[in-house]
Amino acid sequence: MTTTLEVGLAGRRYPIDIGHGLLERVDVWRSAVRGGHALIVSDAHVAPLYARRLQDALAAMQPHGANPLQVETLVLPAGETHKNLAAAATVLDALARLGATRDACVLALGGGVTGDIAGFAAACWMRGIDFLQFPTTLLAMVDASVGGKTGVDHPAGKNLIGAFHQPRAVVADLDTLATLPDRELRAGLAEVVKTACIGDAGFFAWLEAHVDALLARDGEALDHAIAVCCRFKAGVVARDERETGERALLNFGHSFGHALEAEAGYGVLLHGEAVAVGMLLAARLSTHLGMADAADTARLHALLQRIGLPVALPANTDADALLARMQLDKKNRAGALRLILWRGIGRAEIMENVDATAVRTVLL
Ligand code: NAD
Ligand code: GLY
Repeated sequence: MTTTLEVGLAGRRYPIDIGHGLLERVDVWRSAVRGGHALIVSDAHVAPLYARRLQDALAAMQPHGANPLQVETLVLPAGETHKNLAAAATVLDALARLGATRDACVLALGGGVTGDIAGFAAACWMRGIDFLQFPTTLLAMVDASVGGKTGVDHPAGKNLIGAFHQPRAVVADLDTLATLPDRELRAGLAEVVKTACIGDAGFFAWLEAHVDALLARDGEALDHAIAVCCRFKAGVVARDERETGERALLNFGHSFGHALEAEAGYGVLLHGEAVAVGMLLAARLSTHLGMADAADTARLHALLQRIGLPVALPANTDADALLARMQLDKKNRAGALRLILWRGIGRAEIMENVDATAVRTVLL
């Protein structure tokens, strides 16, 4: 069964298809590929497993024009340490070699790192060409592939270079999760928990009841969780594409998490792992500021622990260094800390001018 959701934006919309065997199901996504050039961008772990399926599917497509579709595959090194401008430049070079014109299309096949880099290159080439997301990690399926945030890291911070550039389609082939390492599955579950923390207390309770099924990769449980998260995110993005308000809520735990990822050294803590610690710190800060009950933090702590995610800052984390990195977060305004905190499970809020001393207290 394929579930199709939609991201509805001012003037246009695109589908999120979630199902099994979708890499080969050209009938599901072919209308999103226009023009005569297609570049598949993948990474060194994912390409050997799945790129061939996409290549064959594209080869079987009837071209829109008189000439056959020209398809190339670019394989990037895997991992967050390679999510940088050099990687984006490699994609641009590949587009140049392919002779990609303005109607060309980039197909991002992989996790959030691949999707963010490939999407960013697509945003830059000739000021913006089409791209499709084929997420292969749980994290990318529930979060990174939806919503059009693309970009790369800078030594000064996570995702500091980027562009809003929406995909023409998101195609989540659930079969690809079979090869995802356990640690990556757990990291993806952090973003699933985040969705519940922000705005769905009922889903949080469902996660508490189904965590074992999710960890055992039960198909029905995973399908449900992915669909709930995509529906939630699609709604937020539709209402606030450029993050002028509500969309910032999707960053619950991320100001702490991004700082932690950069401070630990990219790739040491996975993104989802850093977000798990970040959500707990945000919850603790909320309690410290009198906004939320400590019992909700305890429930979050218990759920993250059952998933097998880290629930404490790594030993010898430098609180001041972390705070300094948080000052460069994209959500801040006029030098003041702007954080996503909560009133309790399912009730996240944007807090302006958060006192740095209070933040430091929860980092110690
Ligand atoms: P990732 O892309 O690095 O993938 C994780 C690892 O799993 C990699 O080693 C990859 O090669 C491997 N892998 C991927 N799919 C596989 C599969 N099916 N089988 C076997 N191995 C597989 O990391 P991620 O967790 O998917 O994404 C994290 C990134 O996403 C971060 O850079 C984060 O900033 C970004 N992100 C972006 C958004 C957004 O809105 N754009 C949202 C959330 C996160
Ligand atoms: N992951 C945050 C966002 O897409 O806005």
